[in-house]
Amino acid sequence: MKKTFLTLIAILFAICIFGQNKNPQRFFNANDLIIGGVYYYPEHWDESQWERDLKNISDLGFEFVHYAEFAWAMLEPQEGIYDFAWLDKAVSLAAKYKLKVVLCTSTATPPVWLVRKHPDVLITRENGTKYDHGARQHASFSNNFYREYSLTMIAKLAEHYADNKAVIGWQLDNEPRPQEDFSPDATEHFRRFVQNKYKTIAELNKAWGTAFWSQTYSDFSQINLPKTIQFINAHQTLDYLRFTTEEMSSFLNEQAQTIRRYVSKNQWVTTNLIPDYANGHLRKIDELDFHSYTRYMVFGDKNGVGRKGYRLGPVERIAKANDFFRTIDGVYGVMELQPGQVNWGQINSQPLPGAVRLWLWHVFAGGADFVCTYRYRQPLYGTELYHYGIVGADGVTPTRGGLEYQQFMQEIKTLRTEFKAAAKNPQHYENRRTAILFNHENDWEIGRNKQTVLWKNEAHIDKYYNALKNFGAPVDFIDEGDDFSKYNVIIAPAYELIDNELVERWKNYAENGGNLVLTCRTGHKTRNGQLFEAPFAAPIYPLIGAKIDFYDLLQPSTPDNVIFDGKNYEWTSWGEILLPEPNTQTWATYQGDFYAGSSAVISRRLGKGTVTYLGVDTQDGAMEKAVLQRLYKQLKINVLDLPEGLHIEYRNGFGIAVNYADKTYTLPINATKFILGSQEIGTAGVSVWVEK
Ligand code: GAL
Repeated sequence: MKKTFLTLIAILFAICIFGQNKNPQRFFNANDLIIGGVYYYPEHWDESQWERDLKNISDLGFEFVHYAEFAWAMLEPQEGIYDFAWLDKAVSLAAKYKLKVVLCTSTATPPVWLVRKHPDVLITRENGTKYDHGARQHASFSNNFYREYSLTMIAKLAEHYADNKAVIGWQLDNEPRPQEDFSPDATEHFRRFVQNKYKTIAELNKAWGTAFWSQTYSDFSQINLPKTIQFINAHQTLDYLRFTTEEMSSFLNEQAQTIRRYVSKNQWVTTNLIPDYANGHLRKIDELDFHSYTRYMVFGDKNGVGRKGYRLGPVERIAKANDFFRTIDGVYGVMELQPGQVNWGQINSQPLPGAVRLWLWHVFAGGADFVCTYRYRQPLYGTELYHYGIVGADGVTPTRGGLEYQQFMQEIKTLRTEFKAAAKNPQHYENRRTAILFNHENDWEIGRNKQTVLWKNEAHIDKYYNALKNFGAPVDFIDEGDDFSKYNVIIAPAYELIDNELVERWKNYAENGGNLVLTCRTGHKTRNGQLFEAPFAAPIYPLIGAKIDFYDLLQPSTPDNVIFDGKNYEWTSWGEILLPEPNTQTWATYQGDFYAGSSAVISRRLGKGTVTYLGVDTQDGAMEKAVLQRLYKQLKINVLDLPEGLHIEYRNGFGIAVNYADKTYTLPINATKFILGSQEIGTAGVSVWVEK
């Protein structure tokens, strides 16, 4: 009896702890909608200026400051000697001006004494040379000593600020990403990683297909990190990419656990990830309370809409990051957003007047709980000299971006007065909610066997994503751990790595009324990246109601067409020639080659739902959009047809439109009241409204 009682208490306790971690919404006050902050580096400026700067930050409307990101050398000037006095002063000055504080773990910048005493902490490059002190992100996540020593420093910092009321949260490291490190510790960890995974060397040999080219291993100690030798074993490389992701995640998890051991349960822990959809750090890092991202929009890489669209950047850049990060934990923040010109791009143009405010509203529209700008003051020395801040080089005059932040914060304060806790998003919007099933491993694997240089994986996914945003659909990027049954439609683009369990889940999803959309390159390989001993992609045949006869790849100079609903769409990059079963409908066929007339897009009923398969990747995605339009019509889901560059979202019952195009549009919405802007929305315009 007593034992049962104790077990019950233990279970209740576990539920409390677990429930707390799984409810990141508790860190934010719903009435705030979003809070705004800015990076400030007290250590860069004369102490006599701190109070002036913090007062100005507060006067501009900011609500938190971000400190100590790269400050390890100031926090621990000598081994084991900590100095938090300067940071205490900066924190209490922030508090004096009603600013909350986000602290950082500064593991991206170890002090020189540590590096000189323990040179092994430096990343080893493939050629054996090491990085050196003098930049940042040169220390290895795999180095045992570095990890241990970092955690000691983090523990001291966390203990010191554990109950400080001004401190609301923590950012781990800076823009962490999987590292390429050929150090002995990394090699050792990789051996351990594959040994844990495969248990016996025979299993590893099977998974890596080492019979090919005499690569067979007889002991785990013979295994090295894969070098960039031509044709290095692709299965080994796939595991290596999983390993580097794991090394990064486990270091971040240890940092989070260390902080949590000390700090009050009101302080959250996150990190600031770069939304890079291929590099394996975008799904869950378990110990974070929620995930955050950094985003730069104008740096000369990609044009937006129209001749000067580069001054606003592409509309999907913030949209996709919102839709990706929000879905991981239901809560997310944006840790860095560009305040003006940056210094590190190919061509660092001026953003369009209004761009900074547009981006801020776009972040808000995605559902973020905070948005922080990088950075307050323009630096006068260091690597980022020409980087804009909220104020210019004189330290006091707001830049155009600074004034736009100020305007945004004022507008948010007005919006807070309109907030109603019970307000819901309109049903027409929620009906369109669609999931994109994503696993970065597919991208890695396709990258290894591209078959054509014309294949662009992210662009392939974007064809579907952009069509959905054009429909005015809320999109959730989900992973295999998520509940499929919440979604009317799930799209799994180019989902190359599968297993029977996933196929079974897809089947159940459709049979129970879900509408599954699969696209070319899906189901080719096992999770080890091997082909099935069966016809190409055979495990998905019963699902799609067709066989795949073969695939073709065209020369860029001689594209062909597929015909859908009487219209031609050009393609070159990937086409699968499908052999549908009698009950499977053909929606599009190939034109112009020896397989003219055969099926390119098919759709079928499966149980209470449907499965649609697009075997072709068209040049501009117009066919993909038309196919989805037909599907949504068939499902009686009303979709919009928004013009280029215009996105519409809803959160907390507010409608928000952002216009990245060089034209003025009329919004296709029925507002009962506009809080900002109007039905007409110009370039860089923002409208915010409520509707019935
Ligand atoms: C980010 C980085 C920041 C800062 C910024 C400059 O990528 O996280 O620390 O360097 O770029 O734009």
